[in-house]
Amino acid sequence: MTEKLLRPLSIGSVNLKNNLALAPMAGITNAAFRILAAEGGAGLVVTEMVSAESLKYGNKKSFQMLKLLPGERPAAIQVFGADPSSMALAAQAAERAGADIVDVNAGCPVKKVMRSGAGSALMKTPPLLGDIISRMVKSVKIPVTVKFRVGLTAGETLGPLLARICEEAGAAAITLHGRPASQFHSGPVDLAAMAETAAAVKIPVFGNGGVENASGARAMLEAGCAGVAVGRAAVFNPAVFAEIAAGLSGGPTSPVSPAVRMKLFLRFLELNAGIYGEERGLARARKLVGYWLKGLPGAAGARSAFMRLKTLKEAEALLIQYTE
Ligand SMILES: Cc1cc2nc3c(=O)[nH]c(=O)nc-3n(C[C@H](O)[C@H](O)[C@H](O)COP(=O)(O)O)c2cc1C
Repeated sequence: MTEKLLRPLSIGSVNLKNNLALAPMAGITNAAFRILAAEGGAGLVVTEMVSAESLKYGNKKSFQMLKLLPGERPAAIQVFGADPSSMALAAQAAERAGADIVDVNAGCPVKKVMRSGAGSALMKTPPLLGDIISRMVKSVKIPVTVKFRVGLTAGETLGPLLARICEEAGAAAITLHGRPASQFHSGPVDLAAMAETAAAVKIPVFGNGGVENASGARAMLEAGCAGVAVGRAAVFNPAVFAEIAAGLSGGPTSPVSPAVRMKLFLRFLELNAGIYGEERGLARARKLVGYWLKGLPGAAGARSAFMRLKTLKEAEALLIQYTE
């Protein structure tokens, strides 16, 4: 292999400092978290999925989700929907909000989303997916990208076909979750299907699924993916991108210490407080505390103490005491 595994990458007109991206996660990749991931070495961050239909009807909460903050660039806004006109409008809203890239969710397996024909249901209707992408491409100047899965059920390989259709429709990059939709977010990824998909198109394909460290990233890059997108491993350690980058460049890597993890968590709480206010920011973080404490000793006690916190000062005291 002559090409470096870790390298800068362009998605259409957008230049990324490296080929490591944060995967979009509903309820997790808000602006506070995206800033941490960008600081932690991600070359691209992505919002939670935003409903194109909700944007069309002026839903305030959905418009708030489009808000990008300084310190999280380059950033993609991900939208979901099944109607080409609504998706074109959503792409324009994302562009107006300052997104560097607009991403189409064609991989979400959640019933409510699929029932509306969106998310991974779009994998069942490749011409519609192509139509959505080409309408979006025609409606905005920023690159349009798409995220889908290797197939709908285990053993099914739709990746190469869908990738070609998306490329033809004008997509500038693809994120490929290496698990079928039926598997949601668990189980092994299909590296062979990822290799086939990456080989089927000229646009960059980001491999995704289960990457926790440099060796996981290496496997996808060696299979032919141009980049890697990391989801859950970043949630309790947004510095995982720098760790993976160091590992891919052959440098020494040391997993982040519990003390650094708690420091990052506190910074997340501070950023969250800046966005939602102190008490609401802390309340929203309750759902995520399990991720941040994952694998650490005494996590259960700290977690239940966290549920009662009202101020950042109390959070800081708890996390310092916990680390000690
Ligand atoms: C809580 C959660 C929320 C997610 N939300 C989204 C989403 O909004 N859009 C999307 O394309 N994928 C979403 N995903 C899928 C992730 O982007 C990613 O494909 C998946 O977690 C596999 O990567 P990982 O093993 O590195 O976590 C979500 C996953 C999780 C766990």
